[in-house]
Amino acid sequence: MAAFLKEIQSAEMDPGSHFYKNKGDKHMRGMILNLFVTAAEAVTNTLNWALLYLSLYPEVQDKLGNEILNVIGSDRSPSLGDLEKMPYTKSVMQEVLRISSTSPFSNFQMTTEDVTFETYFIPKGTTIIANLYGIHHDPNLYPEPEIFNPDRFLDETRSPNAPPFLPFSVGLRTCLGQTFARNEFFLLLVSLCQKFQFSWDPNVEKPTMDGLTEKCVSIFRFTPEFRLLLGWRSEMRGRRGEEHKIILPV
Ligand code: HEM
Repeated sequence: MAAFLKEIQSAEMDPGSHFYKNKGDKHMRGMILNLFVTAAEAVTNTLNWALLYLSLYPEVQDKLGNEILNVIGSDRSPSLGDLEKMPYTKSVMQEVLRISSTSPFSNFQMTTEDVTFETYFIPKGTTIIANLYGIHHDPNLYPEPEIFNPDRFLDETRSPNAPPFLPFSVGLRTCLGQTFARNEFFLLLVSLCQKFQFSWDPNVEKPTMDGLTEKCVSIFRFTPEFRLLLGWRSEMRGRRGEEHKIILPV
């Protein structure tokens, strides 16, 4: 905001600028609206994918819950400083971002000059779209890409040949909100999994892997409709009385 207001101020004498007077004001309001809408929608969508996969892979959810319990316990709220002590939680978040690829493509961009890349010649003015979903689901980079397996990220920092991981895209126009998104995702996921256990409603057929991958690709990837059973985690049950199950449609 401060940077935007500064630009508006410095463009006071420049009618050609995007920041000039009313134009700058409109531009700023649009950007703020954009940030709020995107922030709410993108993070909620990622969280939905996380809950869906955690309910389909209870062993992953248990491991995640145990790490939360060991590092944070069941009383204190998580804080951002906890993340560095939680490698498994980090790998769960990375695997959710990979498998869901909620923004499967970069925004449209254009080459500003002729480019030769390996054997390809790309003329100036060509529209370029990065296929982020394609990278994250390439079996040569991520074996059995349709399987939700956070362990594949556990030794990522040790491997110099780690496959590309680009949920927020790459380059100068990479996602502006990625730090905010990662932080929100961490705090919400950990707060939920600290207290609750999510399980698949046995009365509802489980989705096929195919149904969760290729068929969902469009400009954004949203989860198919699903229903979860929500119960207290075992550490909470003693304090909360009887196990309490409610149905959570998402
Ligand atoms: C998990 C959540 C999110 C994912 C996976 C995500 C992913 C992406 C991707 C792939 C792009 C396209 C970048 C490109 O064209 O190369 C993008 C752009 C953008 N994102 Fe996000 N995003 C997320 C959350 C957010 C949040 C919370 C905000 C705002 C607070 C945000 C703000 C933006 C903006 C402003 C752009 C456009 C950047 C530009 O064109 O220069 N995103 N995002």
